[in-house]
Amino acid sequence: IPKFIIDADTGIDDALAILYGLKSDKADIVGITTGFGNIPVEQATDNTLRIVKLAGFEHLVPVSMGAARPLVRHPEFATRVHGRNGIGDVELPPSSQRPAEEPADAFIVRMAGELGGELSLVTLGRLTNVAHALRRDPGLPAKIKHVYVMGGAVRVPGNVTPVAEANIWGDPDAADLVFRSGLAVTMIGLDVTLRTRLHQHQLDALRLHCKPENREVVDFIDRSMQAYFRFYGESNGFDACAPLHDPLTMLAAVEPGIVHTETLRLSVECEGKHCLGMTVADLRHRAAVGHPVRVGVEVDAASAVEKLLAVF
Ligand code: BDR
Ligand code: CA
Repeated sequence: IPKFIIDADTGIDDALAILYGLKSDKADIVGITTGFGNIPVEQATDNTLRIVKLAGFEHLVPVSMGAARPLVRHPEFATRVHGRNGIGDVELPPSSQRPAEEPADAFIVRMAGELGGELSLVTLGRLTNVAHALRRDPGLPAKIKHVYVMGGAVRVPGNVTPVAEANIWGDPDAADLVFRSGLAVTMIGLDVTLRTRLHQHQLDALRLHCKPENREVVDFIDRSMQAYFRFYGESNGFDACAPLHDPLTMLAAVEPGIVHTETLRLSVECEGKHCLGMTVADLRHRAAVGHPVRVGVEVDAASAVEKLLAVF
């Protein structure tokens, strides 16, 4: 089964993506790296350790802490979206597992070498850790099978600004470096994630039908999602539902056929006053600007949600 490192700024939807990745028998999660983003990196790391414990993998999956700030800019957080603690202010029991000694970028480089081309990355936050890994080992693109990136927006508006999606906007220089690096990238952006929504009635049904050993996990998912539903109700007018940005990215990595991609030439705006962090696709007939990236353009949202919930 395919091997992954998940890189996350563990907020509400990151947590669900991690739980899915750990529970799915189609993915082998060899480690989780953390970064700043929704919250500061220390909080993201603590959340990740608690989520790993909740899933029953305490001491079984290494968690390695990464970047506290973007490559060149100042960090900004999103507690308005994810709650003060990043996971909808749900209190999970602390873990006795400590973060790994090895920092995230070194861990990525080492695992890529050890796994001989079999390792893929799923990034659910800023691309800062991957950018640092590329700086540490410029030969990394030849050693990594694929990178599935949650981020960007091509034919739809942004979320954090009119044109930029939060993960790219939060460190555009890192995203730029990754897209140019020669790494094989699939970008799962707002074009497909906003259309893939989890509804309260699906969580109600999951509570009734989940495997007995997953009751606590499902209770956490339902409770943490309440903050996400509230935010998307206020900001997007959604009715008791929220988009599955990060879970869809994990799904796209393990379930072929859920997201349909198209190879587009992409550039990241790193200097603009109005367009900072925009993922600019060259949609002209003879595309010439940017680097080729597989971009999610269509999604089978119903089977995405079904496959996601089926592991619990
Ligand atoms: C992305 O931003 C974060 O708030 C979410 O976890 C997701 O990774 C969506 O723009
Ligand atoms: Ca995230």
